[in-house]
Amino acid sequence: MNKAKPLSIAVLGSGKGSNFLAIADAIAAGRLNARIVCVLSDVPDALILERARQKGIPAEYISGAPFRTKLEGEAEARYITALKKYGAEVIALAGFMRILKPGLLAAFKNRIVNIHPALLPAFPGMESWKQALDYGAKITGCTVHFVDAGTDTGPIILQKTVPILDGDTPESLHARIQEQEHVAFPEALQLLAEGKITVEGRRVRIAR
Ligand code: GRF
Repeated sequence: MNKAKPLSIAVLGSGKGSNFLAIADAIAAGRLNARIVCVLSDVPDALILERARQKGIPAEYISGAPFRTKLEGEAEARYITALKKYGAEVIALAGFMRILKPGLLAAFKNRIVNIHPALLPAFPGMESWKQALDYGAKITGCTVHFVDAGTDTGPIILQKTVPILDGDTPESLHARIQEQEHVAFPEALQLLAEGKITVEGRRVRIAR
């Protein structure tokens, strides 16, 4: 049994929240020594908020306006205020569809992690599973990485591979990638919870 203090995680998402569920399940199963202190979304009717409320986890819609694809200015300040209010130590971006800016990055330096549905640095950006399929890649996967000021460019914590099969459609491939995301994200968060991760430039070292 891990007796260390549980890591306080805030989950930010804009969508259906399957990664949020995977993190919550890993905590319930004792595979992740953490608690989810809040779920925040920039989409008022996002399923992730509903799923969090069903589990009794504080869930708030916080507007990202006036911007559409980034979190800056007053919107960024609203998120920082909420994250501090809930006592978040680490922020897990689980399908949060906005680029973070220096204010939030500085407030949580090396404490913001993202899950990306490809083997970075290949296929950053949107619909990466479709990019990989259209490119004709034979292997893709998912990446958990620290967030920096770029798009999907931060230091890589861990990756899981997924083969691309002849009969794959974007949907079937994305579904298989998501299965691996649901393993990778809790695993990476547990490494953080155990204090096993150090960042040296671009390289993330994991104490085993
Ligand atoms: C995942 O595929 C993740 O890689 C990407 O956004 C999606 C979120 O899915 N960043 P969900 O809301 O966790 O189901």
